[in-house]
Amino acid sequence: MAQKFGKYRLHECVAQGGITEIWLATDEFENVVAVRRLRQSGLRSTSAPKLFKAGLKVHRKLPPHPNVIRFINHGKEQGVPYMVLEFIQGSDLKLLLSRNQDHIENVADLLIQMADGLNHLHDKGWIHLDYKPENIMVSLNAHVSLLDFDTCQPMPGKPKKFPKITGTPVYMPPEQLQGQPIDHRVDIYAWGVTAYELLTHRKPFPGRNPEDAMRNQLNKNFFVKPVHQLNPGVPVALSQLIHKCIAYDPDARYPNVTVMNAVLHRVLGVQNVPVANEPVIEIENTATQMPSFSF
Ligand SMILES: Nc1ncnc2c1ncn2[C@@H]1O[C@H](COP(=O)(O)OP(=O)(O)O)[C@@H](O)[C@H]1O
Ligand SMILES: [Mg+2]
Repeated sequence: MAQKFGKYRLHECVAQGGITEIWLATDEFENVVAVRRLRQSGLRSTSAPKLFKAGLKVHRKLPPHPNVIRFINHGKEQGVPYMVLEFIQGSDLKLLLSRNQDHIENVADLLIQMADGLNHLHDKGWIHLDYKPENIMVSLNAHVSLLDFDTCQPMPGKPKKFPKITGTPVYMPPEQLQGQPIDHRVDIYAWGVTAYELLTHRKPFPGRNPEDAMRNQLNKNFFVKPVHQLNPGVPVALSQLIHKCIAYDPDARYPNVTVMNAVLHRVLGVQNVPVANEPVIEIENTATQMPSFSF
């Protein structure tokens, strides 16, 4: 039996995060939507409603983009704040990775969509700060949408210390783990870790336990196994691109997602790339070598 929630009917709770729950719902016209609302436990905390509100602000201001979850509505019902989003039938990338999907037919296409969504967020002046597979939805027809803007911050002009470090350590670069000033290049690092995982099914900085993994992440000289060695279907140029994203030093990463994205498009042999002023690395067009990836 569906639960009534304002003008929405909630049919099934599809996910429970730290502070929110996501429901498959229908509106008064029977349109299928996702209702994302603060959990009861979140209502009692002081930080959760603030985070939710911050995410809502980003949703309301961010112009629509094909690779960003579509925002529909928001409100408060029985004291519970909620937002209404398009419902994506599919899985988040974490779930897809854990299932060891062989049916992800064209990883190259996913990587491009992931970069396009992130580029849009940065372009409109926000950094995500919690970019990771769980916050990337992949629909049944392999369409990618970026989610969860609760931790977003306005993009600083130069690296800045943020009051509270949120996020998931595996996807956080050394400067963020060490509480140093950060900027949009933290998201480039997180994109790189996610891409590495997608192509190899391993973390770039593995460890026997989380502490060990973090030690490796913080070790400037840790040898990250090249992506193309773990997955021979990956062209060297793409492997290099990912390693540049996860460089220890932020200055050794791409200066922004637009440049990274332009290189990515070239590496993958996609036409109509956004023009970057300078090619960042010399690459050859590898399109003929890579129709699609398989694991
Ligand atoms: N619009 C949506 N359609 C379908 N599933 C969604 C949608 N939004 C979120 N999810 C699922 O719910 C999970 C948690 O959502 P998210 O917005 O990241 O909230 P949290 O703050 O709890 O992490 C996601 O990892 C994803 O699996
Ligand atoms: Mg999330």
